[in-house]
Amino acid sequence: MVKALLLENLHPLARQILGAAGIEVESHTSAMDEDELIEALEGVDLLGIRSKTEVTGRVLKERPDLTAVGAFCIGTNQVDLATATELGIAAFNAPFSNTRSVVELAIANIIAMARRLTVRDKALHNGVWDKSASGSHEIRGRTLGIVGYGNIGSQLSVVAEMLGMQVFFYDTDDKLALGNARRCSSLEELLDSVETVTLHVDGRQGNAGIFGEAQFARMRPRSLFLNLSRGFVVDYDALRDAVVSGHLAGAAVDVFPREPKSRGDRFDSPLRGLDNVILTPHVGGSTEEAQEDIGRFVGSKLRDYVQTGSTSLSVNLPTLTPGHPVHAQRIAHIHLNTPGVLAHVNQVLAEHDVNIGAQVLATRGHSGYVVTDTDSQLTSDVIASLNAVPETVRLRILD
Ligand SMILES: NC(=O)c1ccc[n+]([C@@H]2O[C@H](COP(=O)([O-])OP(=O)(O)OC[C@H]3O[C@@H](n4cnc5c(N)ncnc54)[C@H](O)[C@@H]3O)[C@@H](O)[C@H]2O)c1
Repeated sequence: MVKALLLENLHPLARQILGAAGIEVESHTSAMDEDELIEALEGVDLLGIRSKTEVTGRVLKERPDLTAVGAFCIGTNQVDLATATELGIAAFNAPFSNTRSVVELAIANIIAMARRLTVRDKALHNGVWDKSASGSHEIRGRTLGIVGYGNIGSQLSVVAEMLGMQVFFYDTDDKLALGNARRCSSLEELLDSVETVTLHVDGRQGNAGIFGEAQFARMRPRSLFLNLSRGFVVDYDALRDAVVSGHLAGAAVDVFPREPKSRGDRFDSPLRGLDNVILTPHVGGSTEEAQEDIGRFVGSKLRDYVQTGSTSLSVNLPTLTPGHPVHAQRIAHIHLNTPGVLAHVNQVLAEHDVNIGAQVLATRGHSGYVVTDTDSQLTSDVIASLNAVPETVRLRILD
């Protein structure tokens, strides 16, 4: 029986999905350290974690029989993906499950800044009735500049347009403009065109400090700025100066270069205490809906990999989505991506008189993955010969 170990209090949907597929599930509420994890992984096929459990190279090398790791979150930095790939261990995450949550926080922030809601709220809590229309604006008809038009940026584009905003975007890749959004050919063109700038770039190293004094200076006077992407992409001292000088009318920041580790820890930033600056503790993607979707998404990926060999949206293996087997048996063969492996596999099958019903191959970097459906059951001889193909990294036989 396939066995799954789920750590860090994953959403119950993950357990339900795996359990319904006949997988034995053991759940724990907390993370585990390296030694605890190595011990707990004995006899385990599937591991589910969030961001606190480090799946190091040592863990994987000590438990090379692990079939797959599911990171029930967005990032996969906590998993040694290079070692996982070397050992043929599939890794999955949930890249889109919290996209909508981030978009909704961005929209909430834009409206809150345009209406100076946090300033009004603070005044009233302090007993001051500050009723005035001055400096308050509708967002309808206003221009929004989105930097990074990926999952989040492009969805924000659609929702912002529905609210009557005019959207401009800049992406280093050539992206399809959704709805009436207008593509800008440079960051400078975007900064010249809009009244609100929001960053949704990814965490590649080259993005460190891409937004600083020069970019804030180029923004239109009294415009608004948001960063819900990565802390290290913005110079927050420069943002503070731009707000204090009155050049920017407001800012909303959800991500910081150094974030406290645990709930309740002390937080410091040059942005603390500024009027119309909304600070949130990296909660853009943190909603109950996102957590549920992550449980469903990664739970289904692990189940499908076990049942069908599908590596759809795996973060480390070549992508194949072979569907449910209709032939006698399925061979899921992860191998080194070198010339002649497919011929070698097929030669073994031909020599043992095994007819191939269907076959698909994909490669990614140094890895190759071939899924072969056979018309007859495989004998232990065939399986041993396939295992003996020198480039074989991992062989699974699925019924
Ligand atoms: N605040 C939160 O809680 C939260 C939650 C989820 C994601 N995020 C972060 O939001 C960001 C966007 O996530 P996503 O899922 O949309 O990522 P994504 O990979 O789908 O999109 C990123 C886009 O940015 C573009 N890009 C990269 N560098 C650029 C640059 N210098 N200038 C212009 N475009 C650039 C890429 O081409 C890509 O289209 C990521 O950094 C992610 O970590 C934050």
